[in-house]
Amino acid sequence: MITKATIDRIMEATDIVEVIGEFVQLKKRGANYVGLSPFANERTPSFTVSPAKGIFKDFSSGKGGSAVTFLMELEKFTYPEALKWLAKKYGIEVEETVETIENKEEQDRRESLMIVTGFAAKFFHESLLQTEEGNNIGLSYFKERGFSNEIIQKFELGYSPDQWEAFSSRALKDGYQQQFLEESGLSVKRDNGTLYDRYRGRVMFPIHSFTGRVIAFGGRTLKNDKSVPKYVNSPESEIYHKSSVLYGLYFAKKAIRDEDNCFLVEGYADVLSVFQAGIENVVASSGTSLTVEQIKLIGRFTQNITILYDGDAAGVKASLRGLDMILEAGLNVKVVLFPDGHDPDSYVRKMGTAGFKKHIEENKKDFILYKTDILLKEAGKDPIKKAEVIREIVESVAKIPDSIKASVFIKECSYLLQIDERALLSELNKMRTAKAKKDSQQQQQQASRNAPLPAPSPEDLLFFDERDMPAVQQDFSQEREVIRLLLLYGNRVIDWDGLANTYIGPFMIAELSDVEFENSVCKSFVEIYRREVENGLLPDEQYFIHHPEKEIVDLTVDMLATKYTLSENWYEMHKILVNDEQVNMKATILGGIFHLKKHKVAKILETLRNELQKTPGEADQEILMSKYMHMKKVEKTISDFLGSVILK
Ligand code: CTP
Ligand code: MN
Repeated sequence: MITKATIDRIMEATDIVEVIGEFVQLKKRGANYVGLSPFANERTPSFTVSPAKGIFKDFSSGKGGSAVTFLMELEKFTYPEALKWLAKKYGIEVEETVETIENKEEQDRRESLMIVTGFAAKFFHESLLQTEEGNNIGLSYFKERGFSNEIIQKFELGYSPDQWEAFSSRALKDGYQQQFLEESGLSVKRDNGTLYDRYRGRVMFPIHSFTGRVIAFGGRTLKNDKSVPKYVNSPESEIYHKSSVLYGLYFAKKAIRDEDNCFLVEGYADVLSVFQAGIENVVASSGTSLTVEQIKLIGRFTQNITILYDGDAAGVKASLRGLDMILEAGLNVKVVLFPDGHDPDSYVRKMGTAGFKKHIEENKKDFILYKTDILLKEAGKDPIKKAEVIREIVESVAKIPDSIKASVFIKECSYLLQIDERALLSELNKMRTAKAKKDSQQQQQQASRNAPLPAPSPEDLLFFDERDMPAVQQDFSQEREVIRLLLLYGNRVIDWDGLANTYIGPFMIAELSDVEFENSVCKSFVEIYRREVENGLLPDEQYFIHHPEKEIVDLTVDMLATKYTLSENWYEMHKILVNDEQVNMKATILGGIFHLKKHKVAKILETLRNELQKTPGEADQEILMSKYMHMKKVEKTISDFLGSVILK
């Protein structure tokens, strides 16, 4: 875990406008900055940053929080990843406490592997640019293929010298451990225990993790010898799981989000050429067929995938399977093929950016229609084969979770297949029913494996009465108001009734000790506040803005940033609003507390009334009645009190 002291230092150094400014164009407006939401498509800026409070609020998507939250939302960082990003930006050394020994060892091993791959990337990059061999062989190859210096720099392309030990001996000399050189696949051990280089005489494509660190390599041979493998790739390791990595994603993710679409190509060269042409939302699955993890990775940034394939039939057919997976994940898939022998790399170089984009626009086809096309061509006039095609197509459509979308496809396929739409729909329904049954069986099996309690049977569900469910729409406004008051005024001293030197926060917490919060986030907020108070501390706005729990940050920002408080005339509005309630702090604070209490009492009264109607026994009635009368009195006391405090 990152130490508290480090977190504090990071928070102190962080300038939220500067951090967000790296991703969003911000304009100063009054006390705040505004820009276009990076989370939603909008024309008028509703994304607001308050440097004074150190928060942002996006009124389009509802997201809000600190600089850390922002990085977590936008870059999909974990909490520690976001902190480390900030630490790096502000040159702060990160101290971490040791967790368990195993944990630490594993982390150390991963870190050591990454350090080795990082070193190797630098070595290969330098040998490409700064050695004669690298220049003559590697660099001239890249130049011949049309890669610009900028792309070579950005993707850290490299060259591994055509010698047995150039890299390995240098790495050992620089103190890198043999164990990690082997595990990362950069070096191979001979029988006599010495190491030799794996990628001799190859140009090197480093593969970056999601957060931009080099975790693996693809090395391409420059020979035309068929007996030499074209690519040699890093083996699986603790830092490289092939199935959950996409080549180029680190550089593409921003553009993928901006364009709300991800181009998927097959090879390293395709990514580089397309990216160089200014189409930056491009990634490759690197030769392997697409995996579910890779699809989910893309799904974090966009729901739309456009697959760019070369037109050769073998590759196209092989891809049909993987694509069903994308449909199942609920993503929208389009396919574009390139004419005779072209792949995206060669085609974009031939046509230029505009011609390439035009081809995509004119030829992109929904996956299902594309699949129908291909299979139909293959089946020809054979009726048995055609029946098989129909079944296969409907099977794909059945995987689309959105039934409206599915029915649109059925319509189009019925035209292509020359089959009555109703026949296709009935086939679709059959498959869906079968699938639902299978899923629920699987779920039940899963549930019985996980929990000792049996899963509810279908009969149980039949007798399930909706009225037994708690009301869905609950009103937590009183609970939230109390949170707001704690946040705004908790660390002020009470100025009424001679409660000298008492802070409002601890006072409220004490007053609220008999209140059970229903909203789970409000409840944990108050719990956190109480704990801090018990430790003699007084948590403030910043404490909650930087809290590691996302729900707590969300609630805090919601309370601090309303459309009015963060609008253009924020200062004016704020002054009025705050002035109003500050004129009579006693009324504001006690009002908040006792409105909540009144609300709770009203709820208890309602429950008692319901029970009174249901309960037939006279004795029970009596008990309930006396409880009811008591609560009525409490209610009256609170009302009177509220009246006397507020109507002054
Ligand atoms: N690939 C691989 N091993 C091979 C061949 C291919 O790992 N023996 C992977 C590589 O990730 C490669 C991708 O499959 O990038 C696509 O293959 P190909 O189209 O042959 O490679 P390109 O990168 O397009 O190479 P080039 O254009 O230089 O021939
Ligand atoms: Mn190629």
